[in-house]
Amino acid sequence: MEEPMQGVDYIGLLEALHREIAPKVYVEIGVESPTRINMSSNVAIGIAPHPSFTGMLNENVQMFDETSADFFLKNDLLRYTCGRPIDLALLDGVHLFENTLQDFMNVEKYSHPATVVCIHDVLPQTARMAMREPQPDGWTGDVFGIAIALRQHRPDLFVVVLNVPPTGMLLISNLDAPNTKLHTDFQEICAEHACIDYEEMHSRQSEILKPIDFSSIFIDYLKSVKSLNSELRNLDRLKRIIKSDLRVQFGYDRQTAAR
Ligand SMILES: C[S@@+](CC[C@H](N)C(=O)[O-])C[C@H]1O[C@@H](n2cnc3c(N)ncnc32)[C@H](O)[C@@H]1O
Repeated sequence: MEEPMQGVDYIGLLEALHREIAPKVYVEIGVESPTRINMSSNVAIGIAPHPSFTGMLNENVQMFDETSADFFLKNDLLRYTCGRPIDLALLDGVHLFENTLQDFMNVEKYSHPATVVCIHDVLPQTARMAMREPQPDGWTGDVFGIAIALRQHRPDLFVVVLNVPPTGMLLISNLDAPNTKLHTDFQEICAEHACIDYEEMHSRQSEILKPIDFSSIFIDYLKSVKSLNSELRNLDRLKRIIKSDLRVQFGYDRQTAAR
């Protein structure tokens, strides 16, 4: 059991993201209550089968009562966004590695380079929480493996794990809509992931995806993302910001990971 995380929680992080990015298009997969999706005042698309929450969704929210896999199979998202790509997305549907990876792949198809994708529950506090079977007393599933897989198979992505309570958030940016690498490697990635357990995740975490604090440095990064949105996204600048301000490794070091 790890020490509980302190500080701004994941809801506070999402509020900051909405404030700083002001997404024109927000997508949320796995809508359990109106809290998060109502943070968006522009186009907001929610996807969850049989949503059963109480509370009102804002008028701008378009809610789709189906699985995320069905939604993306049957629909062209751009129909609901006046042709605009996604600026911010939260993936919090089925908490299994392969479902979440598929959600990421579907969202990336509708992204631009400065899109920010958040994946919830990537830092399980116990091995039990990280099991593939739902647990009654807190369950993250095995989505923790997404960060490792993206570092390995998509070193071009900006991937950072934030240790916001209760169970962390993965942030991904520098997206590349036409990239098909994950589609091509999907079976291989799932097979690799099946060999990683919770203990290995911990040992790899300190090497290749050490969680960082949610801090003012990160808010500066978000401000830069916002300006990149309107500036034809200078990716070199984005990489510089990530390297110097966030002090996280950009890309994946195969030698380190292979150890
Ligand atoms: C575990 S909840 C998210 C809870 C959230 N992590 C929290 O802490 O409040 C998962 C949500 O995903 C939705 N969901 C279940 N299966 C789904 C699927 N196949 N596609 C999209 N959403 C799904 C459920 O309806 C539920 O709202």
